Amino acid sequence: MTTITILGAGAMGSALATPYRAQGHDVRLWGTWLDDHLLDAVEAGRPHPRTNVRLAEGTRLFRSGELEAALDGAEYVVLSVASVGVEKVAELALPGIARARALLLTSKGFAPDAEGRIELLPDAVRRVAATSGTPLPPIVAVGGPCKANEVAADRWTATLYAGKDEAIVAEVADSLSSTTYRIEGATDEVGLEVSAPMKNVYAIALGIADGLHEAHDEPFHNLKSATFAQAVREIAALGEALGGRTETVYGLAGVGDLEVTGLSGRNKVYGSRIGRGEEAGAALEAMVAAEQTVEGVPAAGLAVRLVEQIGGSLPDRMPLLAAVAAVIDGAEDPAGRVAAAVLP
Ligand SMILES: NC(=O)c1ccc[n+]([C@@H]2O[C@H](COP(=O)([O-])OP(=O)(O)OC[C@H]3O[C@@H](n4cnc5c(N)ncnc54)[C@H](O)[C@@H]3O)[C@@H](O)[C@H]2O)c1
Repeated sequence: MTTITILGAGAMGSALATPYRAQGHDVRLWGTWLDDHLLDAVEAGRPHPRTNVRLAEGTRLFRSGELEAALDGAEYVVLSVASVGVEKVAELALPGIARARALLLTSKGFAPDAEGRIELLPDAVRRVAATSGTPLPPIVAVGGPCKANEVAADRWTATLYAGKDEAIVAEVADSLSSTTYRIEGATDEVGLEVSAPMKNVYAIALGIADGLHEAHDEPFHNLKSATFAQAVREIAALGEALGGRTETVYGLAGVGDLEVTGLSGRNKVYGSRIGRGEEAGAALEAMVAAEQTVEGVPAAGLAVRLVEQIGGSLPDRMPLLAAVAAVIDGAEDPAGRVAAAVLP
């Protein structure tokens, strides 16, 4: 039995309690200062408001003021907050993280450092730790097609855990895989960390094709498929430029996660609202008001900066990224923009 502390009691953090408890681990779920209403619902015996699934039995709950107790004796720490909160929560939890054997990271995004250079999230966490002189355990990035509500409901899921330390990845994968939640291990942290936020960006474009379908009551499947293919090409191009492996992009972390994110989820819903004719800013406001964080929106802007930072021929190889960024900024004719970026 391993003691696992999950930081962030949103959809994904709470969902992971299902497979981890199924393996008999001691699972603690810590809610941030934004999660009290989620923990209130769970404590009242209701399903988790974000997944509509009951929290796995035996999961121990900790409120934001109880971080130290939640981390006391933790062997694995799982950071599962939205990308905007990663640096802050990592900083608060550093003493406990430093004592753990592994830091797992489900959060997806990019982060700018003090000079404005864009980093992948594990590097941002390493920077936060280095700044305070705290040693970090090996980081294991968590990706692949794993919708939180399905993980919570114990439905078959294949997920990729990737980290530079092959031995700890193998240990974690072996210890956390359940009958239904199966973990593939890999060493390509960069490939996974590029795929994860980029699939959120491209799911916005996939959603635009769905929105056109709804608005016209006729399918735009050809456009959606061409968009999917171009998205995969662009994720692979960015991954390679940063030293990741193409096979990671063509596997669970890239193609697999792009498929599931383009089927459902907040990024796709935001895109489909735009495809139906809603103005991009208004669509985003409505979603934020409903507590629906659209992570692809900040990721798109940061990805554009990252691609410019890398330079060379890369910006020219990523027209769909540029189109999504323009659409988010309110460009006219969003569907035409996407089509121009993906049609040969
Ligand atoms: N939902 C999924 O299916 C899924 C699947 C794989 C990975 N993820 C990733 O896991 C991470 C969490 O996603 P989620 O679906 O649980 O989201 P969620 O919106 O349900 O929960 C977000 C969590 O982040 C915290 N948070 C939000 N803003 C914060 C801030 N400014 N400072 C500190 N904490 C903050 C919240 O308190 C909450 O614990 C995301 O990066 C997401 O991309 C989600």
